[in-house]
Amino acid sequence: MNDHLRISDRVANMKKSAIHEMTRLSKEIEDVAFLSWAKPTSDTPEHIKEAAIQAIREGLVGGYSETAGILPLREEIVKKLERDNDIQANVSEVLVTVGAIEGLSAAVMAIIDPGDEVILPSPTYSTHIRQVLLASGKPVLVPLIEEKGYLWDIDAVKRSITPRTKAIMYCSPSNPTGTVFSETQLQELARIALDHDLIVITDEAYEYFTFDGKNHFSIGSLPNMEKRVVSTYTFTKTYAMTGWRIGYLHASKELIPQISKAHIPFAICAPVISQYAALAALKGPQDCVQKFRAHYLAMRNVMCERLDRLGSVFEYQKPEGSYLMFPRIRIKEGGDSLSFCKKLLREAKVSATPGIAFGDSGESHLRLSFCVPEQTIHKAFDRMETYFKN
Ligand SMILES: Cc1ncc(COP(=O)(O)O)c(C=O)c1O
Repeated sequence: MNDHLRISDRVANMKKSAIHEMTRLSKEIEDVAFLSWAKPTSDTPEHIKEAAIQAIREGLVGGYSETAGILPLREEIVKKLERDNDIQANVSEVLVTVGAIEGLSAAVMAIIDPGDEVILPSPTYSTHIRQVLLASGKPVLVPLIEEKGYLWDIDAVKRSITPRTKAIMYCSPSNPTGTVFSETQLQELARIALDHDLIVITDEAYEYFTFDGKNHFSIGSLPNMEKRVVSTYTFTKTYAMTGWRIGYLHASKELIPQISKAHIPFAICAPVISQYAALAALKGPQDCVQKFRAHYLAMRNVMCERLDRLGSVFEYQKPEGSYLMFPRIRIKEGGDSLSFCKKLLREAKVSATPGIAFGDSGESHLRLSFCVPEQTIHKAFDRMETYFKN
C-alpha cells in the first residue's frame, strides 16, 4: 500500500477477492477449463436486444429516468412479484437498481449504522459480506449445517443475536452452495426477525433456477413480514443480462424512500437502455428462462455424475438450485482451499473458486459453476481424474 494514500480503514481492511484473484491467474493459463464464474454463458435473447435497439432509435435512452425507474417497468415488476413471488406490491414500493448488487448495497447503507451486526449464513456470497463492511457494519457469520444440505442452523442464529443485531441477509437459491431454503426454514427465520425487531434483506438472484421439485419461496410474501423485508431480484441470471446491469428491489412504503436516498448517490437511476430491455424481458416470451433452467439442470446432473467418479477426492451435497455447487475437499494433502485451487489451476489447468472466498466455514471446499457448456465440464473432470490418479 502506498503510504501517501490515506485510504479508509473500511476499504483498506477489506480482503482482496479470491474470485478475482483466481480469474486473474486463470488468464495466464492457456486452454484452461474454467469453472470459476457464476455468470450466464448464454447471450441475451434476441427480442430483448431488439427492444433496446428500438428504444435507442426512438430517442428514449439519452437522459435519466425517474430515480425509481420507468413506470411501465415498475408496473410489470408489480405483476411479476404477485405472480411468481406471492408479494402484493404497489409501484411505489419498487426500486429499479443497477443489478441486484446496487440494490443490496443501497439497502444495507439505508439500514446499517456503524457497528450494527448483520447475520449472514456461512458460506455465503462474499459480496454480501463486503456490503456490510462498506457500511461499517459487522458481519456475523452463522455456519450452515452442511450434512443436511447446508440448511440454516436456527438455534445458532438465535444464539448469535445481540443488542446490536440489526438484520439478517441471505441469498436463496444460494451462491455458493445451491441450497434452496424451504418455506419452513424461512418462517423460522421470520419468527426470529419479528421477535428481535430485525430487517431481512434477501438476494433472490437465482429464483427461477430450482430443481427436483424444490420451490423458491420469498420471505417477503409472509403477511406479517411485509414491513421488515427488502427483497432483491435481478435480470442478470433470469434473462442472461449480466452486462446490462439491471435489477430491482421491493420493500415497504416506509423503507423505500430511505433506500432511495441511498440509491441516488450510487446510481441516480438504473441504466435507462437496460430498463427498456428489462421491460421487454418481462413482457416477452418466457421460454428462454425455461431453456436456461433445463440447461442448468442437465449440467448439474453431468457435474454430479463426474464428481461421483472422484469420490475419493470430493464429497458434495447435490445443489437444488442456482448453477453452483460447493464440494468438500476430502484429501488432506490438499492444503487450504486457496493453495488447492492454485495448484489445480497450475498443474491440471482447471479453474475453480476457493471456498474460503465465501466465509471461514467455506475452507476445505471449492465452488464449481455448472453454468458452462457440457464439454467444459468433461474437459475439467477428465483433467482432474488424470491429475488425482497421479
Ligand atoms: C447471489 C448473487 N447475487 C447477485 C449477483 C449479481 O447480480 P447482479 O448482476 O444483478 O448485480 C450474483 C452474481 O453472481 C449472485 O451470485
